Amino acid sequence: MEAVACAIELIHVYSLVHDDLPAMDDDDLRRGRPTCHKAYDEATAILVGDALQPLAFQLLARDSSLPQAPAVRLRLIDMLSEASGTFGMAGGQAIDLEVQGRELDVAAVEDMHARKTGAIISASVLMAAACAPDLAPARYEALAQFAAAIGLAFQIQDDLLDVLGDVSTLGKATGADREHAKPTHPSVIGIEASQERVHLLHQQALDALAPFGERAAPLRSLAHWLLSRNY
Ligand code: IPE
Ligand code: MG
Ligand code: MG
Ligand code: MG
Repeated sequence: MEAVACAIELIHVYSLVHDDLPAMDDDDLRRGRPTCHKAYDEATAILVGDALQPLAFQLLARDSSLPQAPAVRLRLIDMLSEASGTFGMAGGQAIDLEVQGRELDVAAVEDMHARKTGAIISASVLMAAACAPDLAPARYEALAQFAAAIGLAFQIQDDLLDVLGDVSTLGKATGADREHAKPTHPSVIGIEASQERVHLLHQQALDALAPFGERAAPLRSLAHWLLSRNY
């Protein structure tokens, strides 16, 4: 299962290295340190992303701790491809850039978030579930609901922190979404309604875990952890 977490983290880090590039969000600071293109240069940051991405898939193909069955490995590779590509992160990032300066309704913002952030968070939960082929479909669906709710809440929280957070605790610049005129929950429905939305989604995520009882304690902690940190 660690290989699934590593593969997700490789895609996550690659997506952030590219997200910070001048052609995208043009950020200089990440996790309290200069972004990759600042510490090195743009070509290096592009290539770092290009190199991290296939490493994730190679890990899924090769790691000996994952289920040996080729069908399971293919499913994992397929799930991560779907979550990272056009219908997931990369497509969501394209929408994010395309809609700068435009007015969106909250449903359109949530659709963008589900792709650019939610898809990878859902994949992290559902790929782990896919390693347990005997899992009942209703349980798989419950996990999908949990992950979709927490993934969306995570991006809304990130957008709130862009308005309310401060650079010394976040380790990245604040006010960037406004500077780029990005439609976000705070800009579309306001701070308070955005905080309520995060709260409601967190509750929905926890409710979805009810059928698992105490066995879902690690997922409850994961939800709490995701909502109390930033990228
Ligand atoms: C990035 O969203 C989503 C990715 C797919 C990487 P943001 O652009 O809001 O993330 P931060 O605020 O730079 O961390
Ligand atoms: Mg971005
Ligand atoms: Mg960004
Ligand atoms: Mg952000």
